[in-house]
Amino acid sequence: MRIAFIGTGNMGGALLEGVLAAGQSPDDVHATAGSRSTAEDLAARLGVHAHAVEEDPQANEAAVRGAGLVFVGVKPWMLADTAAAVAPALEPDAVVVSMAAGVDLDTLAALFPGRPVVRIMPNTPSSLGAGVIALAATAEVPAGTVEQLTSLLAGAGLVVPIAEADMPTMIGASASGVAFFFQLAEHMVAAAAAQGLDEDTARRVVAATAAGAGRLLEQRPDPAGLREAVTSRGGTTAAGLASFEAAGLGETVARAVQAAGDRGLEMEAENRGE
Ligand SMILES: NC(=O)c1ccc[n+]([C@@H]2O[C@H](COP(=O)([O-])OP(=O)(O)OC[C@H]3O[C@@H](n4cnc5c(N)ncnc54)[C@H](OP(=O)(O)O)[C@@H]3O)[C@@H](O)[C@H]2O)c1
Repeated sequence: MRIAFIGTGNMGGALLEGVLAAGQSPDDVHATAGSRSTAEDLAARLGVHAHAVEEDPQANEAAVRGAGLVFVGVKPWMLADTAAAVAPALEPDAVVVSMAAGVDLDTLAALFPGRPVVRIMPNTPSSLGAGVIALAATAEVPAGTVEQLTSLLAGAGLVVPIAEADMPTMIGASASGVAFFFQLAEHMVAAAAAQGLDEDTARRVVAATAAGAGRLLEQRPDPAGLREAVTSRGGTTAAGLASFEAAGLGETVARAVQAAGDRGLEMEAENRGE
């Protein structure tokens, strides 16, 4: 099947790499970017057909012709204009997949009238094939298409089909959640450096610790069990964790997950013009 990527930057490019890793032939992919330099890089690096809008103002329309799946990865503020240009050129049975943050399925359905729409929310480790991609679809999207998308995107990470009502939670737990782990790492580096470890060593040690913890969690997704396994009564880990507990870490994290999701809902309302 022919696939189009309209706007193939950081996130669009990461997902395109995942789709190719899942076995899609690059010859059946038409990707667009604003600039010639990005288009040239995509063609050279990934072997797809790549076109620049600065060279051919009709490049987006041309890319979607004949495509059964159309990924849209332009910045959210460009989405309405891009959709207006592209929608009339879409195939009648094309499925549109938007990765735009803060743009809900109702808004997408209005931007691409008569086409089934899917909304995905990837996070940045998708660029390593280690992302999490939440996926919500309208009822018009055939179940087979959701399955097909799930396998195509599996090259970019763990694909989690959800109801759209769960999107705010997925933003807090995953899309923004990745930064919560970074902030914990940041504080651990700062604490280690403040105690005298040279900063470069502190960064490498904390990064390797986070990567190791992540791998253990991947094997056994039971954070409480893993924590208990390294915590002896009266020991060093227990002493450190008591400090987290006294500071109310659980409530702080719950508020952070809630705040990220709430901001997502506010952005959706702004993008609906409310
Ligand atoms: N980055 C993230 O962590 C993340 C996470 C979740 C969702 N998203 C969503 O992903 C989308 C893209 O974000 P991004 O971070 O990947 O931005 P980005 O790197 O700036 O990618 C946007 C791409 O659109 C291209 N473009 C510009 N004008 C265009 C036009 N007229 N037609 C077609 N393509 C055009 C740009 O081309 P040039 O390269 O030539 O400028 C660029 O390749 C956004 O909707 C964002 O909400 C991103």
